[in-house]
Amino acid sequence: MIVRPYTVADLPGLLTIQTECFPPPFPPELWWKREQIASHVDRFPAGALCVEDQGALLASATALIIPFVPAHPHHTWEDVADGGYLGTHRDEGNTLYGIDMAVRPAWRGRGLARMLYQARFDLVRRLGLDRFLAGSRLAGWHRHQYLTPEAYAVEVAAGRLVDPVITPQMRAGLRPTAFLPGYIEDVESGHAALLMEWIP
Ligand SMILES: CC(C)(COP(=O)(O)OP(=O)(O)OC[C@H]1O[C@@H](n2cnc3c(N)ncnc32)[C@H](O)[C@@H]1OP(=O)(O)O)[C@@H](O)C(=O)NCCC(=O)NCCS
Repeated sequence: MIVRPYTVADLPGLLTIQTECFPPPFPPELWWKREQIASHVDRFPAGALCVEDQGALLASATALIIPFVPAHPHHTWEDVADGGYLGTHRDEGNTLYGIDMAVRPAWRGRGLARMLYQARFDLVRRLGLDRFLAGSRLAGWHRHQYLTPEAYAVEVAAGRLVDPVITPQMRAGLRPTAFLPGYIEDVESGHAALLMEWIP
């Protein structure tokens, strides 16, 4: 199993990952399109990563560099990711920002996300950046709708509830820093996210 940069030639494998990892009700129009993949590879190839095993793609993760001001943490996925085209990438920024990570269901729970986070942390160190950030949707909120998304986020951050996205990130070393209402169009997460941080 290797972590390597993905290219436009990986499009079929990347699409398989997207369709398996983001089924309905997640909006299919948010799955990667060819032009977006081309843009990731063109603007910041070091942030476009996948895990491959014997020619098959098992997982992918995409990131860009942004100028982040900790006093102003609020943003949406659309704004930070330029709708997935990474026009917001700045080589001179201070923060590596993850806009997507997906591991195919059959390969989950085997440390692939951990491998991809380690590759991102290595990149932060190599480029001398201040931090890694990710806006992480509250994927399990729809099972706890007796709570507001914010109250659910507090419970997950405190370790009293388990979320399928936030909890693995906490296990991999990220820490919640801000609640982001209206982060992404996603009914399962009440459209909300937690901003997760790792500092080198
Ligand atoms: C979230 C996701 C990337 C995790 O990938 P993964 O390869 O299964 O994660 P790992 O095996 O590296 O697990 C990392 C840690 O989290 C834990 N973990 C993984 N899935 C978990 C879950 N559903 N609930 C609780 N803990 C979990 C693992 O036990 C591990 O901790 P440990 O090493 O201390 O035991 C994967 O479930 C996924 O692709 N989900 C759908 C797409 C998505 O929503 N992506 C994020 C938003 S873009």
